[in-house]
This record gives sequence, structure tokens and C-alpha cells, in this order.
Amino acid sequence: MWKWGKLELGWGFAALIVLALLGGAGPALPPVLLAAACHELGHLSALWLAGARVEFHCDQTGSMMFRLGGVEPGAETKKIALTFDDGPHPRYTEELLDGLAERDVKATFFLLGQNIEGREEIIERMAREGHLIGNHTYYHVDITRLSQREACREILDTSEKITAITGQPVEYIRPPFGNWDKELECEVMMLPIFWSVDTLDWTTKNEDQIVQKVVTKIEENDIILMHDSYDSTVKAALRIVDLLQAEGYEFVTADELILE
Ligand code: NI
Repeated sequence: MWKWGKLELGWGFAALIVLALLGGAGPALPPVLLAAACHELGHLSALWLAGARVEFHCDQTGSMMFRLGGVEPGAETKKIALTFDDGPHPRYTEELLDGLAERDVKATFFLLGQNIEGREEIIERMAREGHLIGNHTYYHVDITRLSQREACREILDTSEKITAITGQPVEYIRPPFGNWDKELECEVMMLPIFWSVDTLDWTTKNEDQIVQKVVTKIEENDIILMHDSYDSTVKAALRIVDLLQAEGYEFVTADELILE
């Protein structure tokens, strides 16, 4: 990836570079020559400097522009995560997956155990296309209101069903209502993933409102809560992707944001 930066160092700096390139001290060069030299430098499009690829060019004011390439991919992008709870839905989840695939976007799906049967192909596709699959309990319960045994049953039964399809262990849980019992110890450790932007998509079912809410509030590293059970959510989510990709945001799976 490439990122533009600007060196506001003006002619003095350009002169230093030119002199350095000429191999030593010399009389200060007149501006016309410096401008020419700066443009010549611009034509030296790829330099290697401190391990990073740097390109220069000059703007009208004589300031030198540079851009860095060859840096670690994604190191300078603003990351955000779309998360979808309560699915999979027999129709809307597939529409969403189609739209995400077209845009090369990875999302996170927290599935309900009770919604898995008969929708195995959708879940297989999620895994195949690089989405993160998490647990949202079996019957959408508030696990803090259950006994330890019941709570673990809710979680383990759901994870088991997902793993039977994907072959991957389930490591993350979004506890329904955001209620998580930190002391809960089932047979496997689960990491809870909460959210920072609640779209309230399930109450409004209003595509425009969902889009507005997200694009006006979004900040780097936000985790957005949505539900892939509604046509309005699918349409809003894809519009959000288009708008925010254009602003330079990168959509990642939620584990990337909580582990940093
Ligand atoms: Ni839910």
C-alpha cells in the first residue's frame, strides 16, 4: 500500500539533497536549477531508504512530496470491524456474504446454536471466505442468569455445532445483552467480544438511519453491532462498507481489534 506524506522543508532541503547527490559541497544553486533538480529527483521514482521505498515529486510551491511504500501492509490503515449477531438467516446472511465477497471485506458472525441446523452450507461458506465465526449462545440467553452448568451447556453446544461444520475451534463469544460472567469456567476458554457502536438496526429496520448512525460516529478500531436477519441491515452494511472504504477504512475481523 502507498501513503502520501509531505515534506515541508522547501528549497534548503532540496539543495542539500542535490548537493549530496553531486557528491559534496559546492556553491548554493539558483532556484531555477533547484526546481529542475527537484523534478529530476521526482523522476527517480523509487529510492530505497531505511528499508522503505520512497517516491518523491515536487508541487508548484517547490515543496517536496514523498510517499512510502513497501511498509507492512495495513500498518497505517484505520481498522474497523462489522459484527453480525443472531444468525445465520436463511436468506439475508447469504445476500450479505455475496456483498462482502464482492467488496473483499471480512466480517464477524456470532451465531445462535438454534439457528445452525439446515444452514450448514452458509456457515461453511463464512469460514471458507475468511470471516470469523463466534458463539452467541444456543437460545440467546442471558448467561448471568443461569447456573454455571446451564450457561456452559449453552456455550459448548453452540461451539460444538460450529466446529462440526468448520473444523475450527470457536474461541470468541458475544454474550447476548452484553452480559458476561467473568468467572464462568467451561471446558474451553472463551474470549468475549463486545461492541463500541450499536446500530440498533433491529429496532429501526431503517437502512438510512443505520448508515447515518455508523458513518457519523465511526472512529478507528470501532466494533459495529448489527444483525444479519434483516434486509435493511444487509443493504445498510454494504453501503457502510462502500462509504468507509472510500474514506480509507479497512474492515477486519473483530479478533484483530481486541488483540492489539
Ligand atoms: Ni443477539
